Amino acid sequence: MLPRPLIIDCDPGVDDAIALLLAFASPDEFDLLGITTVAGNVPLALTQANARRLCHLAQRTDVPVYAGCPRPLLRPLITAEDIHGSTGLEGVVLPEPTMALQAQHAVAFLMEQCMTAMAPITIAALGPLTNLAVALIQCPAMAKGIDQVVIMGGALGLGNITPAAEFNFYVDPHAAKVVVDAGLPLTILGLDVTHQVVTTAERLAALETLGTPLGQTVAALLRHYGQDDVERHGLAGPPLHDPCVIAYLLCPDLFTGRPMHVDIETEGTLCLGRTVANARPTETLPANAMVIETADAEGVYALLTERLGKL
Ligand code: RIB
Ligand code: CA
Repeated sequence: MLPRPLIIDCDPGVDDAIALLLAFASPDEFDLLGITTVAGNVPLALTQANARRLCHLAQRTDVPVYAGCPRPLLRPLITAEDIHGSTGLEGVVLPEPTMALQAQHAVAFLMEQCMTAMAPITIAALGPLTNLAVALIQCPAMAKGIDQVVIMGGALGLGNITPAAEFNFYVDPHAAKVVVDAGLPLTILGLDVTHQVVTTAERLAALETLGTPLGQTVAALLRHYGQDDVERHGLAGPPLHDPCVIAYLLCPDLFTGRPMHVDIETEGTLCLGRTVANARPTETLPANAMVIETADAEGVYALLTERLGKL
């Protein structure tokens, strides 16, 4: 199999960082065309710098990093320093990046790549969907160059930033609606599935005993991350949201899902950013996404540990 052309759109962010490292550690499967960054967990100035820091950490400064939208389409930016720390990578101190940030805007990069793709591109969307939504509004024809979009976002059950909404879809609900309405081949991994993939003490220990500097860094990141979710949702450990997208692309058989019609609430207060899914699509409400519902958590961590051990 030829490596899959891949663009990762993200807001690093601790779990984005683990997702990027998993992708870096899988060069046989991914031709990583670029990393586009967006404001989300922390402001854009930090997400783009953190993406470059992680390229250095993984010795993958060959992968170009682009800065995208510094705020949502309509709503004011909200960030999550309480979860990811003031730097966005709480638990570790990575050197200032020396690799250049690309001058091209992330939205222009997304449009250009999808319009000129020799082989259809997979987009892994790990943050608020502002960049992808702006690109699709400006250049709907870019859809012809997209193989699939795999998104970490949404929740059929309880939210995490509000009782009704998951963070990525809440930060920019209008962008999420543009993307789910765009007619693209979508796969959505929401909290319902990422809350099944939690970092238990045993799984953390397996990463620590990798005995590599990278294993230590990942363990340090995970040791600090996501405790709020443990208490809020009564989980056995912090959930590993974004890496589930990369694990799905590497080993889809670790997951199961159903085609559904998905819409996003863009009005109101209580339910703003809510994922509204219909598991019985009809002619008038056809399925527009594969919604992932289960994960083999042991398999995901075994994959993550095995790959990081090679990096
Ligand atoms: O709700 C979890 C998602 O929001 C993850 O992508 C996390 O990085 C934050 O962006
Ligand atoms: Ca993210």
